[in-house]
Amino acid sequence: MIRDTTVLMNEKRVFKPSEEIKENALVKNWEAEIEKGKNLEKYWSEKAEQFEWFKKWDKVLDESNKPFYKWFLGGKINLAYNAVDRWIKSEKRNQVAIIYINERGEEKKITFYELYLAVNKLANALKNLGVKKGDIVSTYMPMCPELLIALLACTKIGAIHSVIYSGLSVGSLVERINETQVKVLFTADGTYRRGKVIDLKSIADEAVLQCPSVETIVVVNHTGTPIELSKLSGREIFYERLVEGEASYCEPEPMDSEDPLFILYTSGSTGKPKGVIHTTAGYMLGTATTLRYVFDIHEDDLFWCTGDIGWITGHSYVIYGPLLLGTTTVVYEGAPDYPDPGVWWKIVEKYGVTKFYTAPTAIRHLMRFGIRYTDLYNLESLRILGTVGEPINPEAWIWLYKNVGKERCPLMDTWWQTETGMHMISPLPVSDLKPGATALPLPGVDADVVDGKGNPVPVGKGGYLVIKKPWPAMFRNLHKNKERFKEIWSEFPGCIYNAGDMVRKDEDGYFWIQGRSDDVLKIAGHRIGTAEVESAFVSHPAVVEAAVIGRSDPIKGEIIKAFIILRGGYELKTKLIGELKKHVRHELGPVAVLGEIVQVDKLPKTRSGKIMHRILRAQEMGENLGDTSTLEE
Ligand code: WT7
Repeated sequence: MIRDTTVLMNEKRVFKPSEEIKENALVKNWEAEIEKGKNLEKYWSEKAEQFEWFKKWDKVLDESNKPFYKWFLGGKINLAYNAVDRWIKSEKRNQVAIIYINERGEEKKITFYELYLAVNKLANALKNLGVKKGDIVSTYMPMCPELLIALLACTKIGAIHSVIYSGLSVGSLVERINETQVKVLFTADGTYRRGKVIDLKSIADEAVLQCPSVETIVVVNHTGTPIELSKLSGREIFYERLVEGEASYCEPEPMDSEDPLFILYTSGSTGKPKGVIHTTAGYMLGTATTLRYVFDIHEDDLFWCTGDIGWITGHSYVIYGPLLLGTTTVVYEGAPDYPDPGVWWKIVEKYGVTKFYTAPTAIRHLMRFGIRYTDLYNLESLRILGTVGEPINPEAWIWLYKNVGKERCPLMDTWWQTETGMHMISPLPVSDLKPGATALPLPGVDADVVDGKGNPVPVGKGGYLVIKKPWPAMFRNLHKNKERFKEIWSEFPGCIYNAGDMVRKDEDGYFWIQGRSDDVLKIAGHRIGTAEVESAFVSHPAVVEAAVIGRSDPIKGEIIKAFIILRGGYELKTKLIGELKKHVRHELGPVAVLGEIVQVDKLPKTRSGKIMHRILRAQEMGENLGDTSTLEE
């Protein structure tokens, strides 16, 4: 869905930071910091000093084999060591690292020292299961402490993790597990969602039957639902049993800067989801540095990112960014409106959250309940707010800024992606803010707007969002898909990365993101490819062909509109519509929100048989169909 930012850019309101913010900010002069960031290697190597390296790097950036850039060559480092072990040698030893809270109001606080012991025990247990450096471990878990412990244990021994979002279902699990040849899978009995316990175990069971590479399934008894280990596989073990009797010291594996850290699947515009690979040192540096400056992290901060660890937001800013800075992170399991729409604000008040990072879709949802709940709680602990995942509409921006931030807290609209690993375009707390704009590329990041040929476009004119220089947390490859990786980088002349978004710059250089330029939908901030939804449709016996586009939705941003051709003998009646919705949900999980299904006789295609989504979108918006010369008929 492309929003018309020409209208938004007429909105001339600018919000300035208060004196107090300016005095306390780590970065006091935004422009000067951006200037410093222009010397990429100097800038990032200075920031890299924040970590404890087992061996310092020999070379900051190696561009000799584009687009396979390398950062901090020759360096040896370990993520878990820097995120946990390092702090127990300091006064942070007994500081809370993780506050886990769920919708039932239960909480668990884990100090850095307790986290250290738990990570070590599990790391040793994984070794005993035969997991070695470079092996792949998957998780299909709720937002719970054991998930963070599992990921840290992997990084401690050099295993590569591949997190699978708990909202995905059997098909997605099987595909991801088989493609990565996962050895060990972590799952749990269930997860709390709106007063119910959602059964994850039986989904994992069904999937594992089709996944021969999985040697062990580790089951966390999270909700206390009595579960029997299934007799089917004989490969299972309870988490408590697994770590029982394990030693609580584990030597951190000295990882090469460029050793793979994790794989995370995300949707592209064609085909199946792609496994984005991030490597160790650059990713650590990118997430820790951006979190520090964008959210202005100080010693006494309590950071809460509401994103799920199943997506990049949770990887970078629920777990790794905060722990690498020694900051307490809130892990919340539940929905924003259960038991009531004040649950988030209640948590902010109870724990004194200082930095709050969320998604526009959640804010649009909560806005519907008015200001009763934001007024009910004391939100004065908050200092900085942030959003991510999709463009934020000015109304939602203003609502959050006014009613949650009480016009005192700068709101950081951060633009980034699974591929970028870290924030790329965002204001800093000292920046002037414009509701609906993501402000400027961060220091050390070079982003721009270009036309289809890679040439810069004038102010106010739309173009492609590209990144022009390498950045430390850049993705390094696609799992088993080197060719596709290379294509992404070579689309425009010069070595620049096409992010797949359309954007306009205003006279101050501020970026106004318009939306995706490709066939990727953003449903409640979740990314889903039209190709995946189409293939889910045609796997139903009634459907011959399908084409889907995004339809705008006031809360979710966009939802799916499907055009389908039915097999003879089928009719699109209420029953079939219900069945198709259920089928697509079973294939793809609840992220695939279906708005409308319409039956058609033909779909607009090119002569080579590719569906022309552009034509369907234009028709939907009542716009001119544009260039139709490649249309078959
Ligand atoms: C796509 C990346 C990065 C964490 C969550 C999403 C859209 C992201 C913004 C923003 C406008 C945004 C873009 C981008 N997006 N942040 N602040 N303003 N659009 O990660 O699932 O990899 O999706 O999300 O379209 O390309 P992702």
